[in-house]
Amino acid sequence: MGAVSDPTPQTVTAPGAIVHRADSPDAPWWRDAVIYQIYPRSWADSDGDGVGDLPGITARLPYLRDLGVEAVWLSPFYVSPMRDAGYDVTDYRNVDPCFGTLDDADSLVDTAHHLGLKVLVDLVPNHTSTEHEWFRAAVAAGPGSPERDRYIFRDGRGPGGGEPPNNWPSVFGGPGWTRVTEPDGTAGQWYLHIFDVSQPDLNWHHPEVREEFHDILRFWCDRGVDGFRVDVAHGLIKRDGLPDWHGAVGLYDEIDETGPLGVGRDVEDLWSPDGDVLPHGATGEAPMWDQDGVHEIYRGWRKVLDSYGEPDRILCAEAWVKPVQRVARYVRGDEMHQAFNFDFLDAHWDARQLRTVIEASLRSNDVVDAPTTWVLSNHDVIRHASRLGLDQSRPRPNGIRADDPQPDAVLGLRRARAATALMLALPGGAYLYQGEELGLPEHTTMPDGYRQDPTFHRTKGQVTGRDGCRVPMPWVKDAPSLGFGPGGSPWLPQPEGYADLAVDQQEGVEGSTLELYRALLHYRRTHRIGHGSLTWDALSSDTVIALRNTPEGGGLTLVAVTNLGAEPVRLPDGELVISSGPLADDGALPSDTTAWVRLPVT
Ligand code: NOJ
Ligand code: MG
Repeated sequence: MGAVSDPTPQTVTAPGAIVHRADSPDAPWWRDAVIYQIYPRSWADSDGDGVGDLPGITARLPYLRDLGVEAVWLSPFYVSPMRDAGYDVTDYRNVDPCFGTLDDADSLVDTAHHLGLKVLVDLVPNHTSTEHEWFRAAVAAGPGSPERDRYIFRDGRGPGGGEPPNNWPSVFGGPGWTRVTEPDGTAGQWYLHIFDVSQPDLNWHHPEVREEFHDILRFWCDRGVDGFRVDVAHGLIKRDGLPDWHGAVGLYDEIDETGPLGVGRDVEDLWSPDGDVLPHGATGEAPMWDQDGVHEIYRGWRKVLDSYGEPDRILCAEAWVKPVQRVARYVRGDEMHQAFNFDFLDAHWDARQLRTVIEASLRSNDVVDAPTTWVLSNHDVIRHASRLGLDQSRPRPNGIRADDPQPDAVLGLRRARAATALMLALPGGAYLYQGEELGLPEHTTMPDGYRQDPTFHRTKGQVTGRDGCRVPMPWVKDAPSLGFGPGGSPWLPQPEGYADLAVDQQEGVEGSTLELYRALLHYRRTHRIGHGSLTWDALSSDTVIALRNTPEGGGLTLVAVTNLGAEPVRLPDGELVISSGPLADDGALPSDTTAWVRLPVT
């Protein structure tokens, strides 16, 4: 996509006209929160075993207070055989020994709260691990048993049931079904796994499954967590009859040919998210994604969370759904609070494309009075400091290997800083992924022997996968494992370039990416930029994004200008607050740079 997606300029509201209205200044915390994603395996290792852990995280939390974020989201730390890095859960109510104990989780939450940080944990409801007691019981109990009914077991097709029940592939490559051996030793039924063979899909029509997850939500709420990021939120219900599907199922590489907004790219083409119309080309045409039945589940969860009163505990959907209007359905008033905005992440470095995504996202969520949640990086995609240094006319790949075209690191970082400064000027919430505040690039030359992503193994190396964005954090340049932990060998090797990007090399250093993030976050928070309104500024053009953000009662208008063209741009008159890179001698904004200008109060 990228090159093929070229939304017409008319899709964007004229300069000066309101695109999005300001939130009231006393709106709940999550409507403008910046939330920092910690990937527990790779943030801080306290015991030197090469794997990050909860005590390591707790000890480093003051760093996040100083960075200026409001909350953390922790990727899974539950008991797991780690076939998909903890997204294969054996026990949802306990901590894997490699990460610590339940007491460690409690002290992490307490410490975060003392520092003024909220804590979101990851909820993985689409599938369990094959080691989960329910799955073991299901295999042991045999066909037709109530135990099997908690998962999606079916007889095979063809002679002797030797072929899978339908043609669905796994997102990670290979077939989406695996055959079990029955207790009597015969080749038996098949179970569905949209992801790895070790991640059997649960049957969400089963009342016990529903009750169990209400109970898991309560378990963590009772321990004080402030919310949940919901894994594969668009996948829990499959179309009745599990019909064959010949379209794409992928999530982590950019395979959609219809552009960053999917279908219905024209933002004038918004329909009520309450309507039943599924536009042609929408994700929900695939029988395993975005089926209407998922919403009832989230209405039930919302009730559980609301029963805890204020301050709100929240749900954030990981829903790789197109078009954006369908994403808005997950954040209707009685469902989740937030959904990741993957169209923003998927947009290429193109002013018109980004403007269209920004406007369409805000306007479709405004229909349901939900904030938009911006994101540029996470543990499933190439870090944006590398992604934006790749050829922007090509789709985003799933991982980069040494013999692939390499990103332009300098250009990528420059654009990444500009993209972040654009993102943090937008109304709504934002998610940051650990290490992006250091400008960390993807590890693009990791030897294959280290790779753990099931995608790499299931595709027999054809798809590189996500290990390159999951490399342990560099904290201290001159320390074993760059200060990640006392041991010398982290679970994934850190690339050479990480040493100079370590936290201790950037702290207090003017112009460093870390100090840029701190300045952006501080200003954003102080002036409630996340609660602001949005209009386009007349400086906007085919190569320039210029937006005005005016927080209610904030007494200021901030103009954020991003130059994606080759020529320098003259900034509006006003006070220069921050720029993502140096300005030209005459004060003009160079290529691939964002500046925040505070307009004089008139
Ligand atoms: C989404 C998670 O972000 C990803 O890392 C995981 O592999 C899949 N869901 C399956 O749980
Ligand atoms: Mg450890």
